[in-house]
Amino acid sequence: MLQANVTDGRLDKLAAPHAPRVPAHRTAPCALTDRSMNHTATRRLFVTTALPYANGNFHIGHIMEYIQADTWVRFQRMLGHEVHFVCADDAHGAPIMIAAEKAGITPQQFVANIAAGRKPYLDGFHIAFDNWHSTDGTENHQLAQDIYRGLKANGLITTKTIEQFFDPEKQMFLPDRFIKGTCPKCGAKDQYGDSCENCGAVYAPTELKDPYSALSGATPVMKSSEHHFFALSDPRCAEFLQEWTHTPGRLQPEVLNKIKEWFAKDADGNGGLGDWDISRDAPYFGIEIPDAPGKYFYVWLDAPIGYLASLKNYFDKGGAKARGELRSYDEFMADPATEQVHFIGKDITYFHTLFWPATLHFSGRKTPNAVFVHGFLTVNNGEKMSKSRGTGLDPLKYLSLGMNPEWLRYYLAAKLNGKNEDIDFNPADFMARVNSDLVGKFINIASRSAGFISKRFGGQLGAMSADGQALWSKLSAEATTIAGHYEARDTARALRDIMLLADAVNAYVDQNKPWELAKQEGQDARLQDVCTTCLQAFRLLTLYLKPVLPALTAQVEGFLQMPALSFADSAQPLPAGHTIAAYQHLMQRVDIKQLDMLFEPPAQAALAVAATEKRSPGGEDIAPTISIDDFAKVDLRIAKIVNCERVEGSTKLLRLTLDVGETDAAGQPTTRNVFSGIASVYAPEQLVGQLTVMVANLAPRKMKFGISEGMVLAASHADEKAQPGIHVLTPWPGATPGMRIH
Ligand code: MSP
Ligand code: ZN
Repeated sequence: MLQANVTDGRLDKLAAPHAPRVPAHRTAPCALTDRSMNHTATRRLFVTTALPYANGNFHIGHIMEYIQADTWVRFQRMLGHEVHFVCADDAHGAPIMIAAEKAGITPQQFVANIAAGRKPYLDGFHIAFDNWHSTDGTENHQLAQDIYRGLKANGLITTKTIEQFFDPEKQMFLPDRFIKGTCPKCGAKDQYGDSCENCGAVYAPTELKDPYSALSGATPVMKSSEHHFFALSDPRCAEFLQEWTHTPGRLQPEVLNKIKEWFAKDADGNGGLGDWDISRDAPYFGIEIPDAPGKYFYVWLDAPIGYLASLKNYFDKGGAKARGELRSYDEFMADPATEQVHFIGKDITYFHTLFWPATLHFSGRKTPNAVFVHGFLTVNNGEKMSKSRGTGLDPLKYLSLGMNPEWLRYYLAAKLNGKNEDIDFNPADFMARVNSDLVGKFINIASRSAGFISKRFGGQLGAMSADGQALWSKLSAEATTIAGHYEARDTARALRDIMLLADAVNAYVDQNKPWELAKQEGQDARLQDVCTTCLQAFRLLTLYLKPVLPALTAQVEGFLQMPALSFADSAQPLPAGHTIAAYQHLMQRVDIKQLDMLFEPPAQAALAVAATEKRSPGGEDIAPTISIDDFAKVDLRIAKIVNCERVEGSTKLLRLTLDVGETDAAGQPTTRNVFSGIASVYAPEQLVGQLTVMVANLAPRKMKFGISEGMVLAASHADEKAQPGIHVLTPWPGATPGMRIH
């Protein structure tokens, strides 16, 4: 399963860093933690990001949220804290059900297809969730139903009959988004059920003139149905939420201000928290409400419960053990010391700061310790992200252009300040920050000093003399302040402080001019001293940047031949006599051509990519011309995947059982056994039941695991790293097993 792959891959990466075998020379663990963060004990953190809707691929806004959270998680781990960082697909709801129907597949298949595409984004940007699950998982069904029963037992579930638009053709109630009609205010046609794009008016769907169903075109009728409500108007809820939201450290001040507006009642006592409609009628892709046939939980009831479901799934399969947490999911969550932290965007604040804590509290569960709200990312001066106009920033395109993921991590970290303000991706600004700050100020310190240590001193560090030590102490003394900024998610300030320190180091380099010392007689000792100081300072700056730049740090840890850096390592330099490896260039500058290509509208971009790929679409030249007779030799058939399994002992292969419509001499249906190298991108259960295309007359091939009787067709880029992904072909609906492809 994808989930398992994601986890395994991540743990491998973490467990097998480029950790060189050198004697450890660490200070006592967590000395800094004790000093600066007032946490003598290890914190135990459960961290999530919002669960993305499984109706499309990630966009750059998702990636920003994950980078912010991932950076924070890495920082906590550098302090020695235990962190469990999980996410999941938000699978349920009417839009996904309808999209799946349009695609001619089940909602489960639809969601599985989306999930299968998540990995290249997450791996590509070094976003290291410990687990990726789905709100349609069994854990979530159970937890949601348990939580509902808890609320009910507390007398907080009520029912009420309401009237809603119903599509008589589709036989279903219509969500507001799927009702269209003429604006009651300005008369503009084809407006949505909740607001008019022409005049901005906001109204109820029942106010539309000439309403019609966006699904069938039919005129909707009013129909009544009984709905279940979470009675948030109950005084117990308001009382609890007042206290919960006002607890210091839980919410940012700007978020709390917004919440106060939501709480506020006007002079007539109107406003405040209303009851929340948590049920939807069948057909609905969701979780059934216990003892209420035909009723499902509204997606926003079960979505946040998916945080718990993903954590439980991860604990149950042993993921937490790998991080040193030996207790069960239940024990971990029952511990009042467990800290539960959610990273979200500002648009979903209401759900996370009112509905979610109330849901947890009144079902007898622990509530979140903090909800961290970020603003929206816009691209190119706030223009709305639009694919067709090419103003968006496609994360996979960014990677496929060979752009370094850590440039983006650094840039976003430099802009995010822990408040919920919007930020903008500006190409010129991006280039300046990466090239002048990250490479110009930071990387250059190593590139200007490491060569001398390798060439002149056999790779050995010397001792720092007084001026070097003074510089080093200045840097070391900032550890607490920088840690404080990371803790508060003010990475903008952390990076500003770090770059000021880099300025100080560069000033030291300019004063001491190692390249001149290298030419002078009798200056060897001073040259070694100066270059040692530079590298010791570089090590500290790397440590401070590690939460933002994990891959670069791993490279530096290798080059400086030291164990993985933790925050406590900032208290002490590497010892004199320590040997480093040869310096290898650590990071390229941004090339403006890359940015031009990144923002070119798709058609032009495709041309540009084609041009640089020397007319090699997909990374390889078109094969020499063949005749139609040559083509006819290849017998391509529609095949049904009737079974699919993992292959024990292989991480790459799946064993497919294919029905190509064949029978044996006795007229009994037969199948074929085919091995396919697609295990990294498909889970067996995604493939079972699907149609695909196979080469049916390929000579059978004996493999380590058995005989392969053909080949399944799949598309991929020649350069797997530049453009990851394998895509199995599927025919249009109507094709049946055995049909030949002509
Ligand atoms: N499925 C819900 C969340 C359920 S959480 C139990 C959802 N999904 S989403 O895919 O629309 O958004 C996921 C996250 O991405 C949210 O935190 C949202 O705020 C964030 N972002 C979506 N667009 C964004 C930007 N342009 N910029 C930054 N974050 C944005 O909401
Ligand atoms: Zn209007």
